[in-house]
Amino acid sequence: MSDPHFSSIAPRVLKAVIPAAGLGTRFLPATKAMPKEMLPVVDKPAIQYVVEEAVAAGLTDVLMITGRNKNALENHFDRVQELETVLLRKGDQEKLAKVMHSSSLANVHFVRQGDPKGLGHAVLRARLHVGNEPFAVLLGDDLIDARDELLSRMIDVQQERGASVVALMEVDPASAHLYGVATVEQTLDDDVVRITGLVEKPAPGTQPSNLAVIGRYVLRPEIFDVLAHTAPGKGNEIQLTDALHYLARSEEAGGVYGVVFRGRRYDTGDRLDYIKAIVQLATDRDDLGPDLRAWLFEFVDTLEAPDAPTSTLDQPALVP
Ligand code: G1P
Repeated sequence: MSDPHFSSIAPRVLKAVIPAAGLGTRFLPATKAMPKEMLPVVDKPAIQYVVEEAVAAGLTDVLMITGRNKNALENHFDRVQELETVLLRKGDQEKLAKVMHSSSLANVHFVRQGDPKGLGHAVLRARLHVGNEPFAVLLGDDLIDARDELLSRMIDVQQERGASVVALMEVDPASAHLYGVATVEQTLDDDVVRITGLVEKPAPGTQPSNLAVIGRYVLRPEIFDVLAHTAPGKGNEIQLTDALHYLARSEEAGGVYGVVFRGRRYDTGDRLDYIKAIVQLATDRDDLGPDLRAWLFEFVDTLEAPDAPTSTLDQPALVP
C-alpha cells in the first residue's frame, strides 16, 4: 500500500535513456569490433532485453547514448528489408517475426557521448532529448527478469512522491565495493526507503549498508543541472551516484527514494556473471530449458569438487 498523503503531481514518465557507450574491455576480443550490448544472452542481444523492459513499463521513447563502434545497435533496431524479403518468400513467419520485433518495439533514438567521461556525463547527454520531464535510466549490464516487477513500481513511486527514485538490492557485503551504496531510512511502504546518502564504490569494508544501486533509475529533470555541476569523482569520472547524493542530501527536487528489489536480476557485466545469466535464463525457457537441464545434471556429475584446481593455468608455475 502506498502512503495515502502523496498524490500524483509529477508529469508522466515516457522516456527511457540507455547508456551504451562503454568500451566493453572485459569482453575483448569479442568486443573489438562489436558493442558489448550486442553480445547474445541466449539468442537475443543483451540490449534488446533492456529495451523490452522499458517498453513493458510503457516507455516507448528510448534514447541510447552510444560511442564509436556502435553501428550494430542502430542496425539492430532498424528494418532489414533484404532479410525480411527472403524470410517472407520462404514463408518462415516465425523467424520473420523475430527479425521484425526489434525494429517495431520502440522509437529508438541515438546520441553519441563524445568524451567517455562517465555515467553521469552520459546521462547529461540526454538533456536535450528528455527536456523538462522525469525519465528512466536503464543500464545494460543489469537484466531484470521480465516476470518480476521493478521499473513500473519505480515509476509509480516517482509519481506518488515527486522525487527521483533508484533501484536498490541487498548484496553480499563482500561485493558492495562494486556498486553505489545507499544510506537509507524506512518509509511506510515496505519496499520503499528514503535515501539520505549515496557513495560510489566504497572501499571494501566501508559501505554504509548492504543496499546497492542496481542499474535502474527514474529521475527528475533537475538531475541535469546537478550533473552539469558535478566534479569528476571515482575513477575521475562524472558519477551519477554523486549527483544523486547531492539531491538526497539537499532534499532538492523532492529528494531521492529507493525501491528495494527482491526479484531476479542477472548481471552481465563480467564474463563469469554473463555465463551464469545465460545458463539461468536458458534453463527457464520452454524451448531450451528441458534439454539444457538434463544435460546440466549429467555435466555437473563430471566436474571435480569446487575447491580442487580447475585448470593448470590456476596453478603456480613449476620452477625447475
Ligand atoms: C554503475 C553505477 C553504480 C551502480 C552500478 C549498477 O557502475 O555507477 O553506482 O551500482 O552501475 O550496476 P558500473 O557497474 O557501471 O561500474
